[in-house]
Amino acid sequence: MDLEVTDVTVRFGGNTVLSDVGLDAVSGGITSLIGPNGAGKTTLFNVITGVLKPTSGRVMLGTNDMTSMPVHKRVRLGLGRTFQRLELFGTLTVEENLRVAASAIPRERRTSEVQRVIQQLRLQQVSDVRADTLSTGTGRLVELARALVGEPSLLLLDEPASGQNDSETRVFSEVLVDLADRGMTILLVEHDMNLVMAISHRIHVLDFGQLIASGSPAEIRSDVRVQAAYLGQESLEVGSGRRRSDVSTGAHP
Ligand SMILES: Nc1ncnc2c1ncn2[C@@H]1O[C@H](COP(=O)(O)OP(=O)(O)OP(=O)(O)O)[C@@H](O)[C@H]1O
Ligand SMILES: [Mg+2]
Repeated sequence: MDLEVTDVTVRFGGNTVLSDVGLDAVSGGITSLIGPNGAGKTTLFNVITGVLKPTSGRVMLGTNDMTSMPVHKRVRLGLGRTFQRLELFGTLTVEENLRVAASAIPRERRTSEVQRVIQQLRLQQVSDVRADTLSTGTGRLVELARALVGEPSLLLLDEPASGQNDSETRVFSEVLVDLADRGMTILLVEHDMNLVMAISHRIHVLDFGQLIASGSPAEIRSDVRVQAAYLGQESLEVGSGRRRSDVSTGAHP
């Protein structure tokens, strides 16, 4: 099912954090949402997932109006997400973390579903390892696995690759491309421009709460407004590294 966000505005007190934002993400594609720190990306995710009610605007998934729907109903419609900060249960093993996520699906399918996502993300070696002993990058793969429990039709990923090493990012991007090929709708927030440019079909750019550009990776890379928004921040050039702060944020000890 396609996701369509129309005219979403969010104000906190006198502060307008999102201003009439409209964007879409289609089934069978990877859509990325990029923008400098504080642009409003996580806030928009919170609107789409139902954590935050927008001041105005509409969120549709297929023909379903999700704007005022409680989170659990969105999940039932097929919403899955990861969080910008790793939110695994540190004292539980990888498999136990996935079992917690599986408690939302019918009992008889839980065990096979957990095994399915463990294989999909190639986590067999760490399935019995406590989550608080994982590297940040492996934790990110577990987070993605957890979001995939129950086979969502819409997947929202908030900086899922931060802290990953190259081989983890490779597994990660192969899995995303495969999921999109099989019809999932994927909306990705990510600062790793190599990854974004390599796997996105379409990119939307937010800056200070406004959508300033939408287009293919090539169009976005050559867009002067986008380049201006990123001046003094990370580069849009392929080959640019991740933000330094990504390495140290988010992980449980
Ligand atoms: N609950 C809140 N109350 C007030 N202001 C908020 C709240 N949540 C976010 N903001 C503000 O909204 C703006 C957008 O924040 P948001 O976290 O959505 O940005 P972002 O694009 O995800 O940034 P980053 O790339 O650093 O994750 C920021 O100025 C932030 O301070
Ligand atoms: Mg954010």
